[in-house]
Amino acid sequence: MLAGLARRPRSVAPKFFYDAAGSALFDRICELPEYYPTRTELALLAERASEMARCIGPGADIIEFGAGSSRKVRLLLEALERPRRFVPIDISGEHLHAAARALRAEHPGLDVHPLVADFTRPFALPPAPAPDGAGPARRVGFFPGSSIGNFTPQEAHRFLRMAAGLLRGGGLLVGIDLVKDPAVLHAAYNDARGVTAAFNRNLLVRANRELEADFEPERFAHYAFYEPVRRRIEMHLVSLDRQAVTVCGRHFDFAPGETLHTESSYKYTVDGFRALAARSGFVPGPVWCDRDRLFSVHWLEARSGA
Ligand code: AVI
Repeated sequence: MLAGLARRPRSVAPKFFYDAAGSALFDRICELPEYYPTRTELALLAERASEMARCIGPGADIIEFGAGSSRKVRLLLEALERPRRFVPIDISGEHLHAAARALRAEHPGLDVHPLVADFTRPFALPPAPAPDGAGPARRVGFFPGSSIGNFTPQEAHRFLRMAAGLLRGGGLLVGIDLVKDPAVLHAAYNDARGVTAAFNRNLLVRANRELEADFEPERFAHYAFYEPVRRRIEMHLVSLDRQAVTVCGRHFDFAPGETLHTESSYKYTVDGFRALAARSGFVPGPVWCDRDRLFSVHWLEARSGA
């Protein structure tokens, strides 16, 4: 956060949004009428889960990246044949453990093993249970919500390479938001109720609590727009006036109009994402899209020799 505030232009990683309050605000975003990705992906999962389950196969270990409240995986788990273990990984610990407790209650037979980790850095999977004579389970990654869009294309490539190694012999089911009418994108990140604005400003509220900062969040405007050349939404906090802020004892001056870039959300074409996956150690398989081509879910086979 300090490094991001010091660089020009100022920018911080979007993963810092997700403390307990940020995760709860994100859950509210997912319910908004303007935010089409969640309901579109949920409908795809509900309608096509059996086809997805056929790609995944029986007895798999499911590893969910950025699990949040694990709402989407429920649709998948119901369609899967004897899933062996579910490892939800998330940076937001409280939220993750609450979701894991709820899932255990719903699936008493499933081994649910939450892992609090930043999966953009090296991490170790919890040790697998003693073999049941059937050999090691096939590992399948689940990365819904187009969260991969919050990585730069280089970071996405690095993540996919890591995932291809981790999931070798299995695969990855990943949700990807698609390039579309900029007006639809603009509305999704500038909702009428101001929930996305609160989510953005919560970064400052969190810094005040955890980094002894003295931001006045209302003196920063939420500003989100679609940048069509890089095909990404950019989300910023724009200083409304001249102000000085202290974070961890360090001083930062903001000029009027100066921005802190808090998130990018890249949008892909189906072919563009398949090409990225193919460059990153996967063999692209079936793709599921809604009729309006707002969102896509991709099955990627993790090449054995990759
Ligand atoms: C988590 N991620 C995919 C969301 C997105 O759409 O990029 C985060 C978000 N930011 C603003 N609204 C939602």
